[in-house]
Amino acid sequence: MKNFEIKIPVERYEEASELNTNDFLLLQQAREASLLAYSPYSGFSVGAAVRLKNGVIVQGNNQENAAYPSGLCAERVALFFASSRYPGIPFEAIAVTARTKARLISEPIALCGSCRQVLSEYEMLHGQPIRIIMCGETGPVVVFEKASDLLPMNFSAKDL
Ligand code: THU
Repeated sequence: MKNFEIKIPVERYEEASELNTNDFLLLQQAREASLLAYSPYSGFSVGAAVRLKNGVIVQGNNQENAAYPSGLCAERVALFFASSRYPGIPFEAIAVTARTKARLISEPIALCGSCRQVLSEYEMLHGQPIRIIMCGETGPVVVFEKASDLLPMNFSAKDL
């Protein structure tokens, strides 16, 4: 038996204003999208924005449903729309944020496992790393260089 470690580089910024201009603008778009979320059941409104290699930014937000599992996360709403509208155009980055009336979210918002899986597939498909920017309503930002860092040893087409 041998042990090995998986090390994941993470950038941490104390506040959003420290981000480079492109990432800051993408986060702004995610914040805007969170305002339009349909989240009557959780009251947790998530916004996502995907920047494509052609310069287009696609926004998405969570869409809930009375049959709970029928709803979809903000990230996948944005990613699936981006891929359906611009098939084959690589995704450069995604920004994710959230807001709720219950409290001020001042820590970075994590992506759920299903969204990480979907991101990983597009990253492999396009052969280009997707930068992942996570932030709350306020406070620090964490950035991962690529989707595979968020989901090491993921299941993919190669396993089928
Ligand atoms: N949600 C997202 O939109 N993205 C995530 O990565 C995690 C969770 C949504 C799903 C649901 O509408 C609400 O947040 C509470 O789980």
